[in-house]
Amino acid sequence: MAVRDSRISGFFRLTPVERLRKVAELVGLTEQEVATLQMTGSMGIDVADKLVENVISTLEMPLSVAPNFRVNGKDYLVPMAIEEPSVVAACSNAARIAREGGGFRAYATEPLMYGQVQVIGVPDPNVARVEILSRKSEILELANTASQTLKSRGAGARDLQVREVPGLEGQVVVHLVVDVMDAMGANVINTMCERVAPLIEEVTGGRVNLRILGNLTPLRTAYAWARFRKELIGGEEVVNGVVEAWRFAQMDIFRAATHNKGIMNGIDAVLVATLNDWRAAEANAHAYAAIGGYRSLTRYSVDSNGNLIGSIEVPLAVGVVGGTTGAVEKARIARKILGASDARELACILASVGLAQNFAALRALADEGIQRGHMSLHARNVAVTAGASPPEVDAVAKRLVEEGRISVSRAREILQEMRGGGSGNNK
Ligand code: MEV
Repeated sequence: MAVRDSRISGFFRLTPVERLRKVAELVGLTEQEVATLQMTGSMGIDVADKLVENVISTLEMPLSVAPNFRVNGKDYLVPMAIEEPSVVAACSNAARIAREGGGFRAYATEPLMYGQVQVIGVPDPNVARVEILSRKSEILELANTASQTLKSRGAGARDLQVREVPGLEGQVVVHLVVDVMDAMGANVINTMCERVAPLIEEVTGGRVNLRILGNLTPLRTAYAWARFRKELIGGEEVVNGVVEAWRFAQMDIFRAATHNKGIMNGIDAVLVATLNDWRAAEANAHAYAAIGGYRSLTRYSVDSNGNLIGSIEVPLAVGVVGGTTGAVEKARIARKILGASDARELACILASVGLAQNFAALRALADEGIQRGHMSLHARNVAVTAGASPPEVDAVAKRLVEEGRISVSRAREILQEMRGGGSGNNK
């Protein structure tokens, strides 16, 4: 049931246990439901409560590992956290096929990000541009007081650009170009933007409005390619089918959205497992794909031996230091399993995962379709939802697939039959 009145004064001041009690009372959670929410796993409620606000519990999801990845000659076990069936299996399988063709080759650019400072009420944007650029070193020096670590390692704010955005009269937008090294970079960039704002106001005679990093990172991108040997993927027909599927995504925004969603299935799963900001990655990838008209982030061609060549170009602002990872033990362990030593290596792996995931989807779609494999995995989820215990899940899922009717209600009926007609716990 939905709550009748959602106004709760001082909710944030309560402890997690008190908040949970309050919510339980307001929406009528059962004791069993409260007990379930009180099980917080390895993170522990205290850590969760320190990370974000208004915490009542934690939420687990499956953490899997995709084996078979070889990127730039190095092998990786890739941790993936995702609730969608088929993604991990498809990704591992694609990595196995790519491995037969030599593995993924990948390259990530330097970790250069933009910070944006919006200046409004600028008397003359052309004058402002010259004045800002003339004081570039001073502005960059000031920005670099935000991080001694970056500064001491020769990174940090490197350059600035002044943009006039069409339609925004009397405004300029200053872009700080920042080398964030192995961090995602949001915090340091935001601090830099805030720090230089007063100086920019003084120089331009305008008023600074927003000071925030840009989540579109065209300077921080990763590229990967792989060869998928035709005899391993169903021959010429499938190779051509994948190329045609890709051309469809290049030409049609409806298909492109689905195509790119499939790429992000893989990338996001690794980002979730390693606790990187996957919302930023989503915004970045789709905005990048939209430059010049929304299109696919991957490409496909056929080599002289008829093998399929897949490649990807994807912006990736991901870090191996900073953020909340240190506080969350499982994310730290996931990073250890992956073994990427710096942000650029992580970006190379992620680009390869995105390509693997996309290839797997297109191959399945161009061949037998994804539903057969997908539905048998989905059937297991349905069985669990219907109340099947772990030893019962496979048998129920098998029956659902055989009957071609994968629904929770049918799973409950099957469970009842299996349990000798009793109602069991299949409520
Ligand atoms: C499903 O999560 C992703 C796919 O739809 C991607 C695609 O169609 O390319 C299978």
